[in-house]
Amino acid sequence: MMLGLHWLVGFLVYTPIVIAVTHHYDWNVTWVSANPDGMYERPVIGINGQWPLPVLNFTLGDKVIAKVYNALGNESTSIHWHGFFQNGTTHMDGAPGITQCEIPPGSTFVYNFTVNQTGTYWYHSHAKGQYPDGLRQALVITSPKDPYAGRYDEEFVITLSEWYHDPMPALLKRFISVLNPTGAEPVPKSALMNDTQNLTVSVEPGKTYLFRLVNIAAFASQYFWIEDHPMKIVEVDGVWTEPAEADMIYITAAQRYSVLVTMKNNTSKNYAMVGSMDTDLFDTLPPTVNYNVTGWLVYNSESEKPSPSDTALFNPYDDFNLVPVDGEKLLGDPDYTVTLDLTMDNLGDGANYAFFNGITYVMPKVPTVYTALSTGADAANSTVYGYNTNAFVLKKGDIIDLVLNNDDTGKHPFYLHGHNYQVIARSDEDAGHYDPQNHTTFPAVPMRRDTVYVKPTGYFVIRFRADNPGIWIFHCHIEWHMDAGLAVVLVEAPLEMQKTLAIPQDHWDACDASHTPKEGNAAGNTRDHYDLSGENKSVPPLPAGVTARGIVALVFSCIAACLGLASIVWYGMAPITTSQPSTEETNETNSN
Ligand code: C2O
Repeated sequence: MMLGLHWLVGFLVYTPIVIAVTHHYDWNVTWVSANPDGMYERPVIGINGQWPLPVLNFTLGDKVIAKVYNALGNESTSIHWHGFFQNGTTHMDGAPGITQCEIPPGSTFVYNFTVNQTGTYWYHSHAKGQYPDGLRQALVITSPKDPYAGRYDEEFVITLSEWYHDPMPALLKRFISVLNPTGAEPVPKSALMNDTQNLTVSVEPGKTYLFRLVNIAAFASQYFWIEDHPMKIVEVDGVWTEPAEADMIYITAAQRYSVLVTMKNNTSKNYAMVGSMDTDLFDTLPPTVNYNVTGWLVYNSESEKPSPSDTALFNPYDDFNLVPVDGEKLLGDPDYTVTLDLTMDNLGDGANYAFFNGITYVMPKVPTVYTALSTGADAANSTVYGYNTNAFVLKKGDIIDLVLNNDDTGKHPFYLHGHNYQVIARSDEDAGHYDPQNHTTFPAVPMRRDTVYVKPTGYFVIRFRADNPGIWIFHCHIEWHMDAGLAVVLVEAPLEMQKTLAIPQDHWDACDASHTPKEGNAAGNTRDHYDLSGENKSVPPLPAGVTARGIVALVFSCIAACLGLASIVWYGMAPITTSQPSTEETNETNSN
């Protein structure tokens, strides 16, 4: 009796009252018009007629029921909840071809899941190439038990991104094309901060703020700093870290950092807050590109807003050194290692693609989750998911090492859906491939996050436990590279998924509306799961001996030939002053 009472009193005193809320969203995804860089008004994708999109705020334990109606008319869509583990709800992850069918125009799809983590996240379309047209925004989850809760006065969300003036479908067409054999990515026009420029944030002297920085871009990493204000990093990608002092942070597409910043005690000046795109990522730097974006901490609205000084050293904090507050130790030796060698090369159509182990990702006919659910015991065999999905089947509970060797000269930020991972090794530039026999000592408490970048011709090794049955795509978060095939699919505990997953009717309806088969192997074969004839494949390789350089030469000689033809036509159409030869040439041209 006494014990019982004691327990009850303890319960009343120590349990903070957190009421889980259900967030119902009724979203119409439509085209609206916007001009965030002040240079060009263009169509962008909004929600319920609004753009920028709403920043979402959840509390740990909340439920989300987001009803998404696609009113775009001309494009399919989806919503991915970037960084969410979706434990038990892989079919709510929002990746068409992987965890659902795309939502075609005129269809509705409901995302329904529980929020089981805290920190800074974002949501974005996962339909091919779509989110840079505007369908992306930050999302914050808090809990009164967050380690830094109550240790700051107020918080601000700061998004960074780049901005294009042309719509993505047009840019993509030019990007993956024989006319772009080197795979040069379209260079953005401007950098944005909170989807605008010249952002002002009013601050009060002496206060400490939490800035939640989110790079919602599709391509450019940004260097971020606030003049004369050191930052203390306390979160990366939803993982709380021991405070780490930084003057500058390098944030790749899809990464998040929370930083504590304490304000000065006087209000005599305002301070620039700068985002600067990493122009090393661009093949060319046209002089019109506005690669810096400036905002201000405003202490005093009467004072001027000074331009940032030109002294940035671009020596950002190395996130590899961060230590998670939860102290999660290095996981034990791996049960299974996935090694991925990254290359960029041309295929037979002359366009440039991206490859892991020689395979460029192509979406299967049947979304991978539906193949896992409909192929019985064969779901444990990676063959049924198709050649170009590059699928790896993981056993429940196994510790997985993923080794990424970058044979390309660019930086690439890699994101794994459904997990965060320990980053146990990351090389400098030009280190070559990872050597498992000869590596640096792994950190005792490794940094954990969901997006990490590999340096040019270097490597990284990440480690995680396969404790989340589902279909999780691992891909470069540079949208250009994702669309060029830089992805593999992890099929985690498929037989367990078959026992636990129930797909709601509206998900099947989206498949019917988009004419997507929903059972069988990657080719939609329901009788012989090992017969993949008719599956979606990449274009065949170039004939042996043809190189990118050859294609460039070819393209330019074609252009030269066309110019030649044009000049012949022009010459032929010129008034005839002399007799025969020109007529002949004209005839020849016409017959072409
Ligand atoms: Cu944030 Cu697969 O994307």
